[in-house]
Amino acid sequence: MEKYIPFARKYRPKFFKEVIGQEVPVRILKNAVKLNKISHAYMFSGPRGVGKTTVARILAKAVNCLNPSEGEPCGVCENCSLIDRGVFPDLIEIDAASNRGIDDIRNLRESVNYTPMKGKFKIYILDEAHMLTKEAFNALLKTLEEPPPSTIFVLCTTEADKIPPTIASRCQRLMFSRVKKEEIISYLEMISRKEGIDFEREALEEIAIASDGCLRDAASLLDQASSFGENRVTREGLESLLGILSMGKTREFLTLIIEGNIQRSLELLKDYYLRGINLIRLWENMTAEVRNIILSKTLDEPEKIIEHYDEFYQRFNDKPVEAFLYLENIFTRALMETRYKGAFDAFRMAIIKATIVKEIVPLSKVISGKAIVSASSEEKSEKDEAIEKLIGELEAKKEGEKIIYEIEENIYKAFEDKLEEYKKKKGNVEFRIKEKDKKKGNRSTATLF
Ligand SMILES: Nc1ncnc2c1ncn2[C@@H]1O[C@H](COP(=O)(O)OP(=O)(O)OP(=O)(O)O)[C@@H](O)[C@H]1O
Ligand SMILES: [Mg+2]
Ligand SMILES: [Zn+2]
Repeated sequence: MEKYIPFARKYRPKFFKEVIGQEVPVRILKNAVKLNKISHAYMFSGPRGVGKTTVARILAKAVNCLNPSEGEPCGVCENCSLIDRGVFPDLIEIDAASNRGIDDIRNLRESVNYTPMKGKFKIYILDEAHMLTKEAFNALLKTLEEPPPSTIFVLCTTEADKIPPTIASRCQRLMFSRVKKEEIISYLEMISRKEGIDFEREALEEIAIASDGCLRDAASLLDQASSFGENRVTREGLESLLGILSMGKTREFLTLIIEGNIQRSLELLKDYYLRGINLIRLWENMTAEVRNIILSKTLDEPEKIIEHYDEFYQRFNDKPVEAFLYLENIFTRALMETRYKGAFDAFRMAIIKATIVKEIVPLSKVISGKAIVSASSEEKSEKDEAIEKLIGELEAKKEGEKIIYEIEENIYKAFEDKLEEYKKKKGNVEFRIKEKDKKKGNRSTATLF
């Protein structure tokens, strides 16, 4: 059997022209090779998995190629093929994360003084350069101050701000960026065609979204998804594989919440929770969609600002922007609360809070006195139901005849009227603000309500 090579490695670009996105750094490097104006030190900064190491290797090939043309390596000469096979003696790749000490850099400084063995240039690729120790940086600085001829340093880093300015200022800095969704999709289509993978376009779109601009992740996800689906990549397969929901389902869920369908929303949330869907991811995606709705309500030409504008954002034209601002606040807060109460609980409460959205009227109407102050009786009973559900979620204990409910201050404040009404109705109920909330003061409540 043939050895299996993961997609991310198998489809690593070998020429500048194969690199996806990254037009600026690629163009600068190609021109530098063409015009013979290569810097002795570069700093490649940008997110993980977007082509920094890949481009550094292509650069190594381009400057050492025996038959370069227009700044591109030929890919077939002896030097090119040695580099492609990873055995070129003048290309030295150092993982700074595991060789971060001064001794490592000292060794490097010594080796730097030897002329290249085979090629025109000796190339040092320092991966994760920000991981070097202070002493190592100092040693490196000396080398960068008096760069030996025919040596090129490429410092790759995902955290450029951790590189000391003395070092950074001696490098030509090239920024690598996240790759656009559409470009990732075409990349995945290209791999799928070459691999004979049968795919749903929607599924590739999901992979592109999940990989968040990182091509390495995109390639490995496709790899996993195609073996999971036995060479078929479907949206459904991805949902089970990744524990994520498609955009369509995310929007369905959001619509239920916006429409105040609390019963169905809570049922679905529970269902997703039990199915192992990544709730935080789902929630983040919904929050992003709420922000897009707000933008499309506020702007004259939202399609120029929102990356993937579509008619979904128009669906709630009958609802005021204030309702969505409120919703965005609740959603963002819920995401923060997941840190101490877990996603499922935080989101359940947020859904309950969100149902008041229906009762929010535009500020302009309030000002002009046109606000419909009392909700219809049907809405009212739904709200009572919501309050009872909320109370049902609280921790309760008995003290004599009384039932004491522990409640977070901000939730209490948000529903104060209703809770007090409930208290009056029952007679034996009391609400007690949770201790840890009291200590923190009401800073957090002030931001929300
Ligand atoms: N711009 C790109 N064009 C085409 N493929 C890419 C690109 N960026 C990354 N890839 C794919 O992802 C893999 C990893 O890329 P690479 O090692 O260059 O990323 P990196 O930016 O150095 O990431 P890290 O910061 O994690 O080291 C490559 O083998 C390739 O398959
Ligand atoms: Mg790298
Ligand atoms: Zn060549």
